[in-house]
Amino acid sequence: MEIINLSDKNSIIGQYMAEIRDVEYQKNRLLFRNNIMRVGEFEAFEVSKKLDYTSKKIATPLGISTVLVPSDKIVLGTIFRAGLPFHQGFLNVFDHAGNAFVSAYREYTDAEHRKVDIHVEYLATPSMDEKTLVIVDPMLATGGSMELGYKAFLTKGTPKRIHVCCVIATPEGIAHVKQTFPDDKTTIWCAAIDPGLNEHKYIVPGFGDAGDLCYGDKI
Ligand code: PRP
Ligand code: URA
Repeated sequence: MEIINLSDKNSIIGQYMAEIRDVEYQKNRLLFRNNIMRVGEFEAFEVSKKLDYTSKKIATPLGISTVLVPSDKIVLGTIFRAGLPFHQGFLNVFDHAGNAFVSAYREYTDAEHRKVDIHVEYLATPSMDEKTLVIVDPMLATGGSMELGYKAFLTKGTPKRIHVCCVIATPEGIAHVKQTFPDDKTTIWCAAIDPGLNEHKYIVPGFGDAGDLCYGDKI
């Protein structure tokens, strides 16, 4: 399974990541969401280089131009809630894509907040058959939400290719995706791989709770 970390090469994504991680900067939710969206746009551009293309003749006012356009039928599969601004970045680039939504949220099952369970409650999706499924969720922490989101999408068909797209991944999350996704047709994309998780299953250093930073506290 190919793992592509966009931070392996210098780019403007480094600036966005610095702002996303900055405890002062991230107090402005509008800027935070906007930076998540911008990482999504640039990640989507990189994903576009891995698609299949077909030539198409376009009538311009002065003649015929032959251009290469993607032939893949893309579905953007988004995991609520923190996936929403990231989704918008991908949709800005893949504006012809279908859209699938699933809700997954983590809840602690013990008083010490060391064990998390993940709940899936909502699914709205087109058929996945023969589609290129691009699952977008900014945090790949334990990988549990990604797995359950993917399994929910699979109830609506079998995609031909899968791109797992996040902002920050951990080695644990990557290992979990490797165990639960088809190796021969999955690529993992991220803008950083952080060292690991703390005892509450938050990514360290990470940037905190993505959903809360985008939309505020939840009870
Ligand atoms: C965040 C994030 C991922 C999940 C990752 O969602 O958006 O979906 O955590 O963690 P995991 O890899 O350990 O499953 P969260 O559960 O906080 O829900 P929210 O987006 O509604 O805040
Ligand atoms: N979900 C988040 O929002 N942040 C983390 O660090 C881990 C899971």
